[in-house]
Amino acid sequence: MQEDPQAKSKPPIRDHPRSDMEFGGIKPKAFQRDEKSSKCLVYILVIMVIQGSILLVFASYFLRARTPGFEIGSVEVRNLKYGNSSAPSFNFTLVTQVTVENTNFGDFRFDNSTGSVWCGSEVVGLMKIPKGRAQARASEMMKVSTQVSSVRLSDANNLASNMSYGLLELKSYVKLSGKVTIMNIMKRRRNPEMNCFMKLNLTGNTIQRLKCD
Ligand SMILES: *[C@@H]1O[C@H](CO)[C@@H](O)[C@H](O)[C@H]1NC(C)=O
Ligand SMILES: *[C@@H]1O[C@H](CO)[C@@H](O)[C@H](O)[C@H]1NC(C)=O
Ligand SMILES: *[C@@H]1O[C@H](CO)[C@@H](O)[C@H](O)[C@H]1NC(C)=O
Ligand SMILES: *[C@@H]1O[C@H](CO)[C@@H](O)[C@H](O)[C@H]1NC(C)=O
Ligand SMILES: *[C@@H]1O[C@H](CO)[C@@H](O)[C@H](O)[C@H]1NC(C)=O
Repeated sequence: MQEDPQAKSKPPIRDHPRSDMEFGGIKPKAFQRDEKSSKCLVYILVIMVIQGSILLVFASYFLRARTPGFEIGSVEVRNLKYGNSSAPSFNFTLVTQVTVENTNFGDFRFDNSTGSVWCGSEVVGLMKIPKGRAQARASEMMKVSTQVSSVRLSDANNLASNMSYGLLELKSYVKLSGKVTIMNIMKRRRNPEMNCFMKLNLTGNTIQRLKCD
């Protein structure tokens, strides 16, 4: 870079008889200036890298779309009717408080969905979750009523043994389908799932053990 200008880009200097001497005097200065500017460049690069990593940390914390939490907060049994030994059956309304916990710095909007309540390996109730929205860093709570009945079972007779102990084991599964939107620039699909186990005490009319994964 220091020799090219001599040859090409500065023809007027070439015409001058003392041009070589002058260049000889200027060269070290130009060299010093280059050293300074390359140091400057390094500083600028370092600052850019630091800024970049700060931005990256910021982005990965604020812009990351986390899967919202989804669980049953509380559960209540209403209108419980059950038959004993000779004709085992049950029919009741499961009133659940469902919580969508959004830890994102943006809204989570979800569609309506239908989950299921299981007794053993068969479905005994459908859990209908309405569509909704959990605001940024907030929880959305919904009351969901599910009619649970043994009429859906193909064979209610093997219920007898379970019910004779006075406890009925139930499972529930729901998957939500929704979108997290952060600052209008980040849109990501997120599908939180809820898997809960509970034991219904028939004589006590209560849910004894509620556990969600
Ligand atoms: C279950 O109970 C509800 C009301 O609590 C009733 O409408 C429904 O017919 C009952 N179902 C069965 C199969 O008994
Ligand atoms: C959501 O609601 C619409 C109309 O209300 C219904 O047609 C659709 O089956 C529902 N979807 C689910 C998954 O429940
Ligand atoms: C009955 O109880 C057995 C043993 O606890 C369990 O494996 C089975 O799933 C239960 N059946 C129903 C319908 O709850
Ligand atoms: C079922 O019936 C038997 C006798 O009729 C009774 O001893 C038992 O407590 C009943 N079980 C429940 C869960 O009500
Ligand atoms: C069911 O609940 C009743 C009353 O709360 C209690 O006395 C009984 O021990 C419970 N049954 C079981 C199997 O835990």
